Amino acid sequence: MEALTARALSKNYRTRQGTVNALDRVDMTIGKGQLFGFLGRNGAGKTTFIKIASGLLLPTSGTIQLFGLDVLGHPREVRERIAIVPQEGKPFYHLTPREHIEEYLRVRGASAESAKSTADELLEAMGLVPYSHTPAMLLSGGLQQRTLVAMVLATGAEFLFLDEPTLGMDPFARRQVWEVVRRTVKRGSTVLLTTHYLDEAEQLTEELAVIEGGHVLYKGTAEALKSKVRREVRLHFAGGFTARELEPYGEVYPERGGLTVMTTRSRVEELTRVALERRIGVNVGPVTLEEAFLTLVGRSIEEDEPGGAWA
Ligand SMILES: Nc1ncnc2c1ncn2[C@@H]1O[C@H](COP(=O)(O)OP(=O)(O)O)[C@@H](O)[C@H]1O
Ligand SMILES: [Mg+2]
Repeated sequence: MEALTARALSKNYRTRQGTVNALDRVDMTIGKGQLFGFLGRNGAGKTTFIKIASGLLLPTSGTIQLFGLDVLGHPREVRERIAIVPQEGKPFYHLTPREHIEEYLRVRGASAESAKSTADELLEAMGLVPYSHTPAMLLSGGLQQRTLVAMVLATGAEFLFLDEPTLGMDPFARRQVWEVVRRTVKRGSTVLLTTHYLDEAEQLTEELAVIEGGHVLYKGTAEALKSKVRREVRLHFAGGFTARELEPYGEVYPERGGLTVMTTRSRVEELTRVALERRIGVNVGPVTLEEAFLTLVGRSIEEDEPGGAWA
């Protein structure tokens, strides 16, 4: 049995500006015990999917099942088997990290002793020991987020939804989270994690889906995605080429009054030779995986928020 199955899942939000098609007939299957990633920019539809899958939001159409149970028809059974780190969730300001973990586990039916020993373990693993008795309102945003992640991972629930769990964390804290997530999966949980950090999806997930505009653009391993978008070199021509001439070599886009093509190393020599024959200047530089990936999702860096993780 699959852990999650979505069929033709659609969600339209009605707003004063019109209808937003946040999910458009999404099909998705996540196997039991998988660590699955949703990778996509802001507004791609990741949170909408998680809200529907966890029973917090009704789809416009389509079906969704968790462990073979229809989420809409079995809200209580589903709720007992899942735990969620919501996007931009807030802790209880007067409770400490230890209280968050222990009280949440108690509410979910754990004994006092087991809640305490699980809290000990999670506080240690998430680097929260020095803050375990500090009220959450006195903690930085990153530490508040770590508290929420610790609380939810502590449940070891069968299905864990982690919506941008490392948002606002420094690289060290992110790695700590990755480690605990990996361990939780080893112990049998299935995890759906959303992120807009490409490196996070690459490091952490076995399989991932790239989502953009409510559509699944890609589903497969991070490794296969990388080879799909592998473009190592960027060549900029001040003029002298048409886009159509360059398209066979890779992704072409206008830049600084000329054209840039992102291509593989093996095509560079040929392109520079043609350019020299035509007496055209050419600028050669490296391409990062993020840039190549951005081209795959078909938007420019400038459209993203300043300092966004895609930049
Ligand atoms: N409550 C809402 N009302 C109207 N539009 C919404 C609402 N929530 C999300 N949207 C829109 O739906 C799209 C998908 O949003 P979301 O699922 O939050 O994406 P992501 O989590 O990938 O950033 C976006 O265009 C967003 O603006
Ligand atoms: Mg989101």
